[in-house]
Amino acid sequence: MAMKKEEIHKGVSEFYAGLIKEEASDGCTSCCSPEAGTTCCGPEASTGIAESVGYTKQDLETVPAEATGSSFGCGNPLAFAEVNEGESILDLGSGGGIDCFIAADRVGKSGKVIGLDMTEEMIEKATKTAAENGYDNVEFRFGKIEEMPVDSASVDWVISNCVINLSPEKRDVFGEAFRVLRPGGHILISDVVAEDLPAEMREDISAWASCVSGAVTEGEYLGMIRDAGFEQVEIVDRLDYVQTSEQQPYKLASIRVKAIKT
Ligand SMILES: C[S@@+](CC[C@H](N)C(=O)[O-])C[C@H]1O[C@@H](n2cnc3c(N)ncnc32)[C@H](O)[C@@H]1O
Repeated sequence: MAMKKEEIHKGVSEFYAGLIKEEASDGCTSCCSPEAGTTCCGPEASTGIAESVGYTKQDLETVPAEATGSSFGCGNPLAFAEVNEGESILDLGSGGGIDCFIAADRVGKSGKVIGLDMTEEMIEKATKTAAENGYDNVEFRFGKIEEMPVDSASVDWVISNCVINLSPEKRDVFGEAFRVLRPGGHILISDVVAEDLPAEMREDISAWASCVSGAVTEGEYLGMIRDAGFEQVEIVDRLDYVQTSEQQPYKLASIRVKAIKT
C-alpha cells in the first residue's frame, strides 16, 4: 500500500531534523549527494563534498561555514543563473541555507532571498546563521513547498536543491512555483531522477528521505514542469553519477533543469 503524503512529510522532516541534531552532537552529517549516505566530518570534508556537487571555490569562500557544513544538496542551482542585483529569489527546501547565502551575495542589499522549509530545526539553524553573519536580505520561512506561504507573482527566481524528489505531490510544487513567479521569472532546479526503481522501495521512508524512493523518471519530471505552464524547459547540466547495482538494478541521476514563466 502506498505511503500517505502525511507519513512522507513527517518521515522526511524527522530525518532532516535528526541530521541537524547529529551534526550538533558530533560535528558530522550524512549527505544527500552523489555519495548518499556518506558521512562528512569537519570543514574540509564538507567543502570537498560541496565542490563535488558543483559549487566553486569562489561560491564557498563567501558562504558561512555553518551553512557549508549543513549542505545536503545534489548540485548548485545558481551555477546556471544570470541573477542581477536587486532581484528576489525563493529557495524551496532551503535546509541549512547554503544556496540562500550564495543567492544573497548575488542579489545584494537591494535584493531579497526567502528560504522555505518544513523542518523547524532547519529554519532555526539557518536563521541563526543569517543573524550571526549579518545577512539582512535573507529570510527563512517555515512552510511546505506544496502550499507555499508566498505571494503570487512576487519573485524573480525559484531555485531548489535536491528537494522536490522528496515531495509526495510534485505537481502541486511546480504549480505553486509557477504561481509565485513573476512573468519572465525562472525556475532553476537541481534534483534527482530515477529509472526502474523497485516498487517496494517506494514504501521505504528512509530511502525516500535519502532522495531515492521519491524520485520519478526524467520524462515524468520534465512533463510535470511543462504541465504547470513553464516554457523553454531544458536540462542545462547533469552530474553523471548514475548508480546501478546487480542487487538493486535501478539508476539514479542528478539533473539541473531551467525553465521560464513567460
Ligand atoms: C536534501 S535536503 C536539501 C537542503 C538544501 N536545499 C541543501 O541543498 O542543503 C532537503 C530539505 O528539504 C526540506 N523539505 C523536504 N520536503 C519538503 C516539503 N515538502 N516542504 C518544505 N520543505 C521540505 C527538508 O526539511 C530538508 O531541509
